[in-house]
Amino acid sequence: MRVTLIFMCGIVGYVGEEPALPFMMDGLKRLEYRGYDSAGIAVVENGAIEIVKKAGKLEVLEKALVGHESTGTCGIGHTRWATHGGPNDANAHPHTDCSGRIAIIHNGIIENFLELRDRLREDGHELRSETDTEAIAHLIESEMVGNLTAAVRKALAQVTGAFSIAVVSADEPGLVVAAKRTSPLIVGVGAGGTMLASDPTALLPITREMVHILDDQVVEIRADGYRITTLEGADAEGQAITVEGDLVAVEKGGYDDFMLKEIYEQPAAVRDTLRGRTHDGGRIVMDELRLNERDVRNIDKVFVVACGTAFHAGLVAKYAIEHWTRLPVEIEIASEFRYRDPILDRDTLVVAVSQSGETIDTLEAVRHAREQHAKILTVSNTVGSSIPRESDGVLYMRAGPEIGVAATKTFTTQITALEILALWLAQVRGSLYAKECAEIVEEMHRLPELIRRALECRPAVKRIADDIASCRDVLFIGRHVGYPSALEGALKLKEISYLHAEGYAAGELKHGPIALIEEGVPVIAIANRCHVYEKVISNIQEVKARGANVIAVVTEGDTEAARHADSVIEVPETENELLAPIVTAVPLQLLAYEVAKVRGNDVDQPRNLAKSVTVE
Ligand code: M6R
Repeated sequence: MRVTLIFMCGIVGYVGEEPALPFMMDGLKRLEYRGYDSAGIAVVENGAIEIVKKAGKLEVLEKALVGHESTGTCGIGHTRWATHGGPNDANAHPHTDCSGRIAIIHNGIIENFLELRDRLREDGHELRSETDTEAIAHLIESEMVGNLTAAVRKALAQVTGAFSIAVVSADEPGLVVAAKRTSPLIVGVGAGGTMLASDPTALLPITREMVHILDDQVVEIRADGYRITTLEGADAEGQAITVEGDLVAVEKGGYDDFMLKEIYEQPAAVRDTLRGRTHDGGRIVMDELRLNERDVRNIDKVFVVACGTAFHAGLVAKYAIEHWTRLPVEIEIASEFRYRDPILDRDTLVVAVSQSGETIDTLEAVRHAREQHAKILTVSNTVGSSIPRESDGVLYMRAGPEIGVAATKTFTTQITALEILALWLAQVRGSLYAKECAEIVEEMHRLPELIRRALECRPAVKRIADDIASCRDVLFIGRHVGYPSALEGALKLKEISYLHAEGYAAGELKHGPIALIEEGVPVIAIANRCHVYEKVISNIQEVKARGANVIAVVTEGDTEAARHADSVIEVPETENELLAPIVTAVPLQLLAYEVAKVRGNDVDQPRNLAKSVTVE
């Protein structure tokens, strides 16, 4: 039986004056969040290609390379998240042709790989892995009559699917040929050489000036620079970007894990999201959006499309946009959007939410909406990524790099950015008085301080985590914007603690899920002061009466909720309840973190997950 998993990978390539290996290993470390079930490198040296590849995390490859003398100045490297074929040494990249003189790495999925593999076998090729990628190595071998670049072009003409690939040949040392369709590929030139990677982070040690290779382009990198052409061979240009920000930001900065560091970065991250976007008097400034105000006034419907945590942020945005603008908002899981024939036209605004800007489900939803002439606005954290590039306007969250696979600061900054967007829509459409808008904006500027205070709940959370780390099921309940908070709390716990957790609209519990409640089942109730507070208290009583161990997230000083719960976690109050999820997220993130630590899990790289999901 063939097992096909979903995946994405990280690729790097280097050609320069210095040994390629250290550059590649450093790049792979920065890319490991993209996949970590195997890693490998290929270096062109002394007229041959030397390959070392290992199943497991990058540290396994590092160990295998100890004492390894590598002086080759041209190479490619890969960190994998399995799709075709399980995570073992044979399926690890790079893959080679029959002769071992061509090596390839790949991020993406080759859709016609079965047909290609059958044909290649009939032609006498010996395939040694279960991967789709290996087929491309053999295709290049069959097309190798001229040079490597020409053979890559001819091979890719036979391939359908998504890819960014990088290829080396023992016969053309000093050259890496790469190409891209859908999956990201970036090139940069530094003092000692030229590098490529699937993410700007990997290129930061050599340069901040980079170029995004566009779909169906080929790039040849050499020690002294690069040349971009189309798949057909015509000269072409990529898209130049300058990466700003602190390199140290991608290190752990004294915290045990990236996730914890990122949780604690939230006050600064939310402040950065707001920076420069509001004026005194509460006016929102959105010059960057590139949407003209007449079009905004004509919008008659909004769709929010997103996946995972971004979907939960989008659900908060639905409540905010509807309340502040009176526009109807539909929220849709991006992977479902285009399959249900949504009704869109030029007066529809589609808001895509994706921290990575590369999630393929969201990208395809955006493409579908574009075909129907809808206006697309993206909220993203990654400058120049695919989804922003295909949108009419972008609002960057400016959260800084998030390395932990579990989204934390990108969740709270997504909500912040989406709510600023909602206020801007309300401002342009005149659905809020300037004074009301100014009051909300003023409170938004208090959020960094409220989050800082919420972080003080960690000792209380730690005690609760010890209790629930050995439970089988954990339920999260909330109403109104407490509902998306509950969904996100459950997702965080599932992702990194591997406990079974579900988020429910608290009022829905009695329609079935309440059957799950038995003596001691932990129920985390989002019960901060808001217009549905009394209702949530009733729901707490319902589960309490059936033996649940209720942990309530409450507003500081709320003694009423404390009477009904077994334990409470206090968070500061937001006067505007639509802003509350930005603060209540903090104890829920910390709870997931602490439970995962008690259970001894790797919180930054949880099993089966990867940071950005670039295949459907
Ligand atoms: O990069 P995106 O925001 O598009 O990612 C969407 C989801 O894959 C992501 O939020 C995922 O659910 C995270 N692992 C959540 O922690």
